[in-house]
Amino acid sequence: MKEKILMIGLGAMGSVLARLLLEQGKHVTVWNRSEAKAGKLVEAGATFTADIHRAVADSDIILICLLDYPATEQVLTGVSLEGKTVVQLSTGTPQDARSMAASFTERGAAYLDGAILATPSQMGAAETPIFLSGSSAAWKHAEPALRILGGGLKYMGEAPGAASAWDLAALSSMFGMMIGFLNGAGIMESEGMSVADLGQMVRDISPVLGQMIKDTGDDIQEQRYAEPQSSIDICAGTFELMVRLSAENKIDGGFAGFAQQMFRKAQGAGFGQERISALMKTLR
Ligand SMILES: NC(=O)c1ccc[n+]([C@@H]2O[C@H](COP(=O)([O-])OP(=O)(O)OC[C@H]3O[C@@H](n4cnc5c(N)ncnc54)[C@H](OP(=O)(O)O)[C@@H]3O)[C@@H](O)[C@H]2O)c1
Repeated sequence: MKEKILMIGLGAMGSVLARLLLEQGKHVTVWNRSEAKAGKLVEAGATFTADIHRAVADSDIILICLLDYPATEQVLTGVSLEGKTVVQLSTGTPQDARSMAASFTERGAAYLDGAILATPSQMGAAETPIFLSGSSAAWKHAEPALRILGGGLKYMGEAPGAASAWDLAALSSMFGMMIGFLNGAGIMESEGMSVADLGQMVRDISPVLGQMIKDTGDDIQEQRYAEPQSSIDICAGTFELMVRLSAENKIDGGFAGFAQQMFRKAQGAGFGQERISALMKTLR
């Protein structure tokens, strides 16, 4: 008999996930707080079940893509999860994942926590990354359906918090760079130059930037701080200049000031002649 999949949550992401499953001929039931969002998916072959108890009872694999974990708790309060494979694809913290894993496992579910590292229009491609961790039985059961949603699946083992830790660490790296770029965009604008050209240049040198990040990661892991090629004192000078430039060009100095403080703190702790990896010692 055909496996039954329930998609809970039909926002920007959940509706795309449901559609991808339907396109691959899966038996899909959908549930959403606002019923209207189910209309087009029903036209495409999904079943809408307004009663969440019945929707879960009639399904084998429960995929969740709601705003967050509290919304998930709310929607599934009092719903029997006995014998179900539950995959949480909403974004949360590792602690959110651990708490939900404990509570849903106690309620009889096999629980897998997931993190989607892509936008709705990027879903369903061979390389689309989705991190997963938690019950290996749930992983084995849900993997074929999940592979339709993104070919770049990465199962990170039984610890339920692993997927969201990786997700938030990767998002931190991405948005940290994006905020630095926006500060750079302010510099370009204030000098009457093209922000688009800066974007192009950053893309062109991104393999070099990526290598610098990787080398710093290796240094932190190995606790290698001495013999810098570019010392904290030298790097700190960049932000002294940037704070001055912000004042001179009358642009927002928040980013430059934040970074200046980080470097000054490390210098104050005596790490001025160490590698940039030594900033981690003050962060810890
Ligand atoms: N969009 C992305 O690019 C992206 C990428 C990666 C991960 N994600 C994650 O995917 C999840 C969903 O994102 P989205 O972009 O689909 O968000 P969205 O378009 O804002 O949809 C939110 C969904 O949550 C439901 N919801 C919110 N509060 C609720 C509550 N108290 N009770 C019941 N349902 C509730 C909404 O129901 P209604 O329709 O009734 O309002 C809707 O189905 C988030 O955790 C997000 O971080 C999104």
